[in-house]
Amino acid sequence: MGTEANKTASKDFGIVHIRWFFILSACSLLSILYTSSTSKKFYMVVNSQSSVLTTISNQLRDVSLSHKVPPSLSNTSSKSHDQTVNFTIASPNTCSESPIHALVWIFSAPGNFERRKAIRKTYAKSALFVPLEVRFVFSIATTNDGDIQQRILLEQDAYGNIIQDGTFQDAYENLTHKAISMLKWTNIYCKDVKLLFKVDDDSFVHSTRFAKWLQKFEDTNSWPVNSVIGTVWNHPKPHRTGKWKVPYDEWPEAEYAPKACPGSGYLISGDAVPKLVSAIPKVRFLWLEDMYLTGVLSHAANLKHIDNSQHHLLTFEKNTQSTFVSNKNLFLAGHLSHNMDAYKLWDKLRPLKYW
Ligand SMILES: *[C@@H]1O[C@H](CO)[C@@H](O)[C@H](O)[C@H]1NC(C)=O
Ligand SMILES: *[C@@H]1O[C@H](CO)[C@@H](O)[C@H](O)[C@H]1NC(C)=O
Ligand SMILES: *[C@@H]1O[C@H](CO)[C@@H](O)[C@H](O)[C@H]1NC(C)=O
Repeated sequence: MGTEANKTASKDFGIVHIRWFFILSACSLLSILYTSSTSKKFYMVVNSQSSVLTTISNQLRDVSLSHKVPPSLSNTSSKSHDQTVNFTIASPNTCSESPIHALVWIFSAPGNFERRKAIRKTYAKSALFVPLEVRFVFSIATTNDGDIQQRILLEQDAYGNIIQDGTFQDAYENLTHKAISMLKWTNIYCKDVKLLFKVDDDSFVHSTRFAKWLQKFEDTNSWPVNSVIGTVWNHPKPHRTGKWKVPYDEWPEAEYAPKACPGSGYLISGDAVPKLVSAIPKVRFLWLEDMYLTGVLSHAANLKHIDNSQHHLLTFEKNTQSTFVSNKNLFLAGHLSHNMDAYKLWDKLRPLKYW
């Protein structure tokens, strides 16, 4: 480990020595951390070349002020309230040129090398957005496969746009942890971003149409605030069977939230990111990443939902391909069936001067 900087501060407590006890709850595992000193910022960073362990400020404060009631008893039943983040690949300079207008955060599984390649070779090109500053990163969690991990490290050497979270295994069931990871990383390394755009690695973003959409906010100096932007679903209800099954005892209510957006692509205004991070300890864990972040968590953070469905083709299929090509409003397509679709789309769109 490299340098260690312990920084804590509080307007309430001034320069008085403080003891901070907080409880990390991971499936009823409790641990206590003690730290003290002073400063304006309020987090602890243990930084080394490739690994960053950060304890997030506001949450640490929230929890320590209410330490008499362990989070595991008050409102939590999962790792989502763990204060520690551990980015084994952090790409900390992604947003070093400020301001960043959009950060496109692409959920990807460790072994999806071909999909990431297709995305890099097609739409994920910052140059297409100039003069706007847009960045693309791939979000991966931990893999136990040593060969895959080696290839990921080589990929990072070549492109430098991977963010790997070391605190959980990469799995479909763990996507909510990935969403939380996205919020925590952005809150640390990309604080001033105007819009955070979460997509999946089987989604396709029409770069120039998206750039045009962004440019409007820049031209009118009216970037969205306090907002989650996506295809807005009203009163989404739990499925009790099938792929998105959520058993009654995990979510007895008839709906997840008054409004939520599907996960193939949604945007969050930059100012909303810290609000969402602060809301994490206040809500119940839900493994469905999109319903959790854009529904439960956004509701707790009092965000407004802006409907973006005119720009979003939910499912990219044979019979909707031509729609995506011809309808110039559409800048996001979800659920490409094969990563060749990205190349085909790219080829189709370029000659038609849609770019
Ligand atoms: C961070 O995560 C990696 C990979 O899971 C693990 O090997 C390492 O021990 C973790 N570091 C800390 C400080 O927790
Ligand atoms: C999700 O991550 C946790 C923590 O690393 C791990 O124990 C669990 O097995 C993962 N879930 C799946 C389905 O792999
Ligand atoms: C968690 O806390 C919030 C705010 O205190 C409350 O509205 C919510 O009902 C609680 N959830 C659970 C599952 O207890």
